[in-house]
Amino acid sequence: MAVGDIVVMTDHSSGEGSRPLLEAAVEVLTGMQAVSVDARHFMTGGNGRVIVERETVRLTVPSEDLVVTPEVLVVYEIPPTGRWRFETFQRSVLRSGSSCLGADVDAWRAATDKHQTVMRFSQEGVAQMETIALCDPDPNAALDAFTRLGGDVWARPRTGAGGKDVFHVTTIEDLHDARRHYTTSGQDWLLSRDAGNVGPDGRRHQFRVVVLHDRVLRVCEHVQSDSDAPCNESRGAVSTTVPVGNFPAEFSRLAISATRSLGLPFGGVDLAVENGGVVFEVNVHPVLDVPEGFETLAIPFIQAHLSPQ
Ligand SMILES: Nc1ncnc2c1ncn2[C@@H]1O[C@H](COP(=O)(O)OP(=O)(O)OP(=O)(O)O)[C@@H](O)[C@H]1O
Ligand SMILES: [Mg+2]
Repeated sequence: MAVGDIVVMTDHSSGEGSRPLLEAAVEVLTGMQAVSVDARHFMTGGNGRVIVERETVRLTVPSEDLVVTPEVLVVYEIPPTGRWRFETFQRSVLRSGSSCLGADVDAWRAATDKHQTVMRFSQEGVAQMETIALCDPDPNAALDAFTRLGGDVWARPRTGAGGKDVFHVTTIEDLHDARRHYTTSGQDWLLSRDAGNVGPDGRRHQFRVVVLHDRVLRVCEHVQSDSDAPCNESRGAVSTTVPVGNFPAEFSRLAISATRSLGLPFGGVDLAVENGGVVFEVNVHPVLDVPEGFETLAIPFIQAHLSPQ
């Protein structure tokens, strides 16, 4: 068991609500209060300092009069667009002896940059819908990709934002609207064949499968009434928990291999079961503030830090 500090480091500007569950799980499992640290101090430009010596890491934040020596460092709620500013810190943590499941820069990049995700999935044989990555394409290049993919596709930004800027594209006009949107907002993007994840009732549906190493911790189904909108809760999808034992083993295996293919120990996999099962993405920090999230997610995630594999 830990004798040093147990630190829960999150971006305190995040409103996702995972932090209190992680801190409560630390207390339940160890009887110790977690030290809560704002990750922004340890991002490029922050005033946090890291000293690694003889297998320990000491973190100081002069502005908050804080000095901690984490034996266990739990990192969570780091927004995708801020992750590159956290990499120097992650590399220091990796050199230290702290138990941390969030220090692998390459794994985070592979999951956060969807161009890399798609490449990794195809190298590792993880099923996905056929996808073409696009960087500021001219109208002809966009049209060529759209045509090659069969003319019923989804456009997504290279760095995700919870279903924002995701479009179902079925006409050339939609395609050019999407292209202009990404050009104006300065985003690279991807086009993928439609996964056909429409149920008999005409509604879109897919699953969020949370994986820890080789175990599925929680499954929920997301159902979206608007068949042109993504199945993100932030875009109006409704989520229902599915007992893990009722979820087909082949899709559990798919979620586990998707997470492993990116080098992540833990992740929230978005997948559709049509077309034999296809993965859209793996979220580095799936929201924990969900029904039964404390018991099914926060507790095993903290446990994995306390008794590393
Ligand atoms: N090929 C596709 N067919 C059907 N639906 C798709 C397809 N591609 C994307 N979608 C829908 O769009 C959603 C958003 O895509 P994705 O999960 O990759 O990014 P995101 O949730 O916006 O990103 P992040 O979670 O990183 O913020 C998917 O979960 C799915 O509902
Ligand atoms: Mg998603």
